[in-house]
Amino acid sequence: VERLKLVMLDGVPFLDLTQLNWEKVKNFHSLPDDLLIASYPKAGTTWVQEIVDMVLNDGDVDKCKRAPVYDRIPFLEIVEPKPLPSGLDQIANLTPPRVIKTHLPFQLVPNSFWEQNCKAIYIARNGKDNLVSYYHFDLMNKEQPDPGTWEQYILKFLEGNVAWGSWFDHVKSWWTGKDKHRILFLFYEDIKENPKREICKLSQFLGKDLSKDILDRIVHYTSFEVMKKNPMANYSTIPTFLFDNKVSPFMRKGQVGNWKEHFTIAQNEIFDEYYHRNLADTSLTFRFQM
Ligand code: A3P
Repeated sequence: VERLKLVMLDGVPFLDLTQLNWEKVKNFHSLPDDLLIASYPKAGTTWVQEIVDMVLNDGDVDKCKRAPVYDRIPFLEIVEPKPLPSGLDQIANLTPPRVIKTHLPFQLVPNSFWEQNCKAIYIARNGKDNLVSYYHFDLMNKEQPDPGTWEQYILKFLEGNVAWGSWFDHVKSWWTGKDKHRILFLFYEDIKENPKREICKLSQFLGKDLSKDILDRIVHYTSFEVMKKNPMANYSTIPTFLFDNKVSPFMRKGQVGNWKEHFTIAQNEIFDEYYHRNLADTSLTFRFQM
């Protein structure tokens, strides 16, 4: 595979094979009981996917090991890396009720989801840890644009010159969108702090009343340590020419505050300057440490 470049579509940069499916994605037909799991890349999408699958299967671990997470909850993706199956085909093959992953900013989500009054769960992560995670992902994912040096990457991220666009715009778009639709807005830091509380919130949103035992089982099964060892949850089934686990595993650190090992004081000040400027007009705030 070769590293892809970025292309602008409707004001947002995407990987440049995107045009292939762009119209198909825009015209996507949702079903009323579709559930969207939405996020900016590297915010904890896979974690929430695993939690949702566990909740919907009443904590049945074996059922959740039926296939890799990206097959159980396919990606409404625009670029379709060969030789992996097409996300759109996978979604078409699901039996309803369907759960679908997306990284689209709120304004680009196919309208059909809102016309059908679908539910969505958005997972957001503080921008510094999100940036560090995305940097390592761009190093190991051989189709992502070359991240360049760490120093260069910080500016790319802050300026939104990365696939799926600006982190600031993304989190803000969903934060505003949540007031208009059935959207549960979750924070990575909150799940890390108290997974049981957040999983309980999530299951109530899905109309599931789970027993204490089942909740405890889900907390255990979806912990970083357990998911890191589970090939059906940790992306180790993706061929290494696409995801080079030697460069960085998909399940890398799973921490809040890992950014402190990467940012210099000056880089942190630059980030904070962008952060305050870009989030000044919202009530959205993030926790950068616990
Ligand atoms: P790190 O690179 O900081 O380790 P996504 O699924 O959106 O691509 O996000 C991947 C990030 O979520 C990675 O972050 C990964 O380790 C983290 N993650 C995945 N499962 C997790 C879990 N059970 N607990 C905590 N973090 C998890």
